[in-house]
Amino acid sequence: MSQNTLAFFIDLEPAIEDFRESVVAGLSRSPRELACKFFYDPTGMELFHKICNTDEYYVTRTELALLRQIGPEVAALAGPDTAVVEFGAGSDLKVRLLLDALERPAQYVPIDIAREPLRDATEAIARDYPAMRVGAICADFTTLAALPEEAMRDVKGRRLGFFPGSTIGNFTRSDAADFMALIRSVMGPGGALLIGVDLKKDEARLNAAYNDAAGYTAAFNLNLLHRMKRELGAELDPDAFEHVAFYNDAEGRVEMHLRSLKAQTIRIGSDSFDLAAGEQVHSENSHKYGIEEFTAVAQRAGFESAAVWTDPDNLFSIHYLTIPG
Ligand code: AVI
Repeated sequence: MSQNTLAFFIDLEPAIEDFRESVVAGLSRSPRELACKFFYDPTGMELFHKICNTDEYYVTRTELALLRQIGPEVAALAGPDTAVVEFGAGSDLKVRLLLDALERPAQYVPIDIAREPLRDATEAIARDYPAMRVGAICADFTTLAALPEEAMRDVKGRRLGFFPGSTIGNFTRSDAADFMALIRSVMGPGGALLIGVDLKKDEARLNAAYNDAAGYTAAFNLNLLHRMKRELGAELDPDAFEHVAFYNDAEGRVEMHLRSLKAQTIRIGSDSFDLAAGEQVHSENSHKYGIEEFTAVAQRAGFESAAVWTDPDNLFSIHYLTIPG
C-alpha cells in the first residue's frame, strides 16, 4: 500500500531578523518586554511539553479529557468531510482526538512557527490518516491574513479552525478580538472554530501552575535569554536572571517576567540596554476568562456561539463558534 505523504509544506518561517527586531523593540520599551511567541525553539518546545505533564499545569490534561468527552457532539456540529486548520500545532495528541471523532475528515492543515517539529508531527499524521489530504504551513499564524490557495483546494465540507491550549490567552484582551476576527476571515462564511480557553479560578492554583516545583516553567522562561545568546549573539548573563510568575487579579492574567538579579547591560550588535538590579522584563501574559466574557469577545469578532463545554471543576472551557454564512 502506498504511504500518505504531505500534499504540501509551505515555508513562510519568520526570518531571524524578525526575532532581532522584536527583541530590540521590546527591550527599548518601558517597561521592557519580550514577545512570548519566541519561546518555541526546539528547547522551548521540549520544556513546554514537560510543563504540560506537570501536576501543577492542569491546562493540558483538563483540555484533553474534555476533548475526549465532547468528540461526538463536535462531530455532529461540524458534519462530514471537514477541512481542519490548526493554529499553532504544539502537540498532535489533541488534533488526533478531534480527527478521530469527526466523520471522514477530508483535510488537515496545521500552521506553526517551529519548522522541524511541525514537519515531524504532520508527517506522522499523514501516515496515520491515509485517506486525508495533509499539508502544513510554517508561519507566524498571528500575521497570516489568508490561507495560501493550495491549502484549501477541493474542500467540500466545512472549514473548521482548531485553536486549542488557551493560546488565545497569550494575546491581550483587545488583540484577542482582533486575532479572532482574522481567524474568522481566514475560515470564511459557513466555517467554524473550536477553541480552548482557560478560565478564571483561585489564585493559588494559577500561581502553582506557572511556578511548577520541577522548575520547567522557570527554565522555559529563561530559555528565551539563552535563545537570544544562541541566535542573536546577544551578550547577557542568563544566570543573573530569575523567573517570576504571578496572577494579576486586576488584569485577569498570569504574568511571567525575567528579573535581573544585578545591574547589567544586554548588548545585541550595536544596540545596548542597561538593566537595573531587580528590573523585570515582561515575557508573557496568559489571560484567563469567564465564559460570558469570552463569548462576548467571540461575538465582537463576528462569531456566533453554538456550544460551550467545561470540565466538572470549571477549570477550562472549549467553545464551538460558527461564522454566519
Ligand atoms: C501556550 N500557552 C497557552 C501557555 C500558557 O499557559 O500561557 C504557555 C505557558 N507559559 C507558561 N506555562 C505555559
